[in-house]
Amino acid sequence: MRIIAVETSCDETALAVLNFLSSEAGTRYEIEREIVASQIEAHRPYGGVVPHIARREHEKNLPIIFDNILRTAFNAGAAEADVVAVTVGPGLDPCLWSGINFAKDIHKKHFPGAKLVGVNHLEGHLYSFLLSQEAGITNRKLRILNGKVFPAVQLLVSGGHTMLILMRSLSDWEILGQTRDDSVGETFDKVARMLGLPYPGGPEVEKLARSIVSENGGNSRASCARLPSFPEPMMHSGDYDFSYSGLKTAVLYYLRDHPSADKAAVARAFQEAAFAPLVHKAKKAAERHGAKSVMLSGGVAASRALREKVQKMCRGRYNFFTAPAEYNTDNAVMIALAAYINQLAGKKYKLGAQPDLSL
Ligand code: KG4
Ligand code: ZN
Repeated sequence: MRIIAVETSCDETALAVLNFLSSEAGTRYEIEREIVASQIEAHRPYGGVVPHIARREHEKNLPIIFDNILRTAFNAGAAEADVVAVTVGPGLDPCLWSGINFAKDIHKKHFPGAKLVGVNHLEGHLYSFLLSQEAGITNRKLRILNGKVFPAVQLLVSGGHTMLILMRSLSDWEILGQTRDDSVGETFDKVARMLGLPYPGGPEVEKLARSIVSENGGNSRASCARLPSFPEPMMHSGDYDFSYSGLKTAVLYYLRDHPSADKAAVARAFQEAAFAPLVHKAKKAAERHGAKSVMLSGGVAASRALREKVQKMCRGRYNFFTAPAEYNTDNAVMIALAAYINQLAGKKYKLGAQPDLSL
């Protein structure tokens, strides 16, 4: 089954062509081609994503990227696909529509015999662990029912979402908890702005936070003594929910009251406080539900600091799965994967923008 996937839910314009090959040994997939066009430069002057600019960029980039895919992904121009998949939500309404309309267009003109299907962006992140080398899927084999994955606990942490999910299988999951206000990614972006860092903020905060600690772990007393103390939100709330607006306000007030504060120390203390409840609650949920593995997904999972913390928590207890960093931030490969799994399960989404779609 060859799937061409379109992702335009926010500020990345992405297309991918994946080929899924089934045999008795399981399913193997090849990423035949993938392209992600980032809009960072277009949004940087505004310090965040501007929806109408994002739509304009998607509409400008999609035909260029598709043309490139047509020339490079298919043998001698024989453009064939069994499925055209497109993200229908959640995301920014105008951005989702630009992807959906484009998918309809290429379906009609280039792949009239293919199925045209909608994909939930969050399922893309949820299944991105299948792109990790450690999931027993080396050589890009979808061989996951080997007893070391499920039940699994997954932290899905992105610009729009902060969720803790219990996965009993690929198609059976339950949201254990989520943020009551801001998402962790959004909080990184806001704190970045307070620290005068450019958009996108998450990686900039991480870089700054890393600058005050040694490469090999960095909890030396000397560096910790300089750190301001921020509340670690919801650590003892007794459930699996999160909250980030209080931490955001604490950083704002600290910077107001300490105008000459060491910004690297603030970034580092903020990052520690933001990640503590994620790691703590993932551990609690994994213990409570007898998890065999813990997974990390979504844009914030691109953080090396978070990956290291979750990996350390898992050591000797749980298998740890996360995709390479570039597949944690938005991409179309994960959308093709979700489309494939939904095809097998017969799960469908309607072909229209659903900005508030949930898992
Ligand atoms: O999944 P994603 O690409 O888009 C959404 O679906 O929301 O996530 C983007 C989010 C942004 O908030 C960005 O700041 C955050 O992921 N992010 C990071 C890092 N890299 C990206 N946050 C913290 N540390 C990072 N290294
Ligand atoms: Zn995303």
